[in-house]
Amino acid sequence: MNRTEGHVVLLTGASGQLGRWTLRELARRNCRKVHAWSGRKAGSFEGFVLEPVVLEDRPAVQCRLDEIRPDIVIHTAAMSAADEVRQHPEQGRLINEEATRTLAQWCESHGSRMVYTSTDLVFDGSKAFWTEDDAPGPLLEYGRTKARSEGFVTATKLGLVARIALLFGPTLTGKPSFWSGCMDAFRKGESRTIFTDEFRTPLDYVSAAEMLCELAMEHPDKTGVIHLGGPERMSRFELIRRSAIASGFDASLIRPALSAETPMPEPRPRDVSLSSEKLDIWLPDRVRRSPERIAQGRTSSES
Ligand SMILES: NC(=O)c1ccc[n+]([C@@H]2O[C@H](COP(=O)([O-])OP(=O)(O)OC[C@H]3O[C@@H](n4cnc5c(N)ncnc54)[C@H](OP(=O)(O)O)[C@@H]3O)[C@@H](O)[C@H]2O)c1
Repeated sequence: MNRTEGHVVLLTGASGQLGRWTLRELARRNCRKVHAWSGRKAGSFEGFVLEPVVLEDRPAVQCRLDEIRPDIVIHTAAMSAADEVRQHPEQGRLINEEATRTLAQWCESHGSRMVYTSTDLVFDGSKAFWTEDDAPGPLLEYGRTKARSEGFVTATKLGLVARIALLFGPTLTGKPSFWSGCMDAFRKGESRTIFTDEFRTPLDYVSAAEMLCELAMEHPDKTGVIHLGGPERMSRFELIRRSAIASGFDASLIRPALSAETPMPEPRPRDVSLSSEKLDIWLPDRVRRSPERIAQGRTSSES
């Protein structure tokens, strides 16, 4: 038995894209005392029952926290679609900011570890390879809600903000992600138009889930902010093109476009690639998979 198997773990957003991969990683680690909170979805996954808990309902959340008393909280739940936050800013504020505050305050007063998933979109996109010491300056309302919520977590003794880059990989939710939606389209011979002038350090879901669990459970001393990005800076176009070619799809189905020339309801950051310098020091042995590996289904850490 490893030393984290006995911990009570709360995973919020367990029904989401990243949440499901994280639940799978918790199962792989033999963590059995896991509370898997969803928003609305019921059912079970990887042997864990999903428990719908509406995070804006502060008294209900506090009451449930007092009952389950988690040692470790991995908080991935969010209104994660930038367009939805733009259209429903108050709801976005309640879910992304206030719910994070509630969880962080409970963790602080009970001595629990909290790891919170923030985003590369807290930056304004004006340069490459953002470090943990760079000041956030979000352009999107979504990024503003995430940037404002980070402080609730960093104010706690055992809190860690993991700013995550654009995630990619197969979906476990039945609902397509940006990446899996593109791959599904190419499989059917449909084309997709992708921006060539937006740069990220894309990270696959498996590696993200592994790093979140490792940081949450094995390194309670690591607090503050960490950037979890992939090993390479690339455009969205490059990510999708490489993945499509590795999957054997026709690369001509990917149509290049310029974000700078496309009318958008909110300005979009051009380059939010993340520096991995601190991550390489904190988790030097951690594998992060390439688009080719993910596209070919080679997700094990050896393949
Ligand atoms: N996807 C990316 O590329 C990316 C990049 C950087 C950072 N992140 C961050 O990573 C985290 C996970 O993102 P994701 O793409 O996996 O998100 P997602 O697929 O949209 O999942 C969101 C999760 O939050 C839950 N949720 C939403 N509203 C809720 C509410 N009011 N009360 C309780 N739970 C609620 C959803 O539950 P139901 O579906 O059951 O309602 C779902 O489980 C988020 O914090 C996001 O900001 C994502």
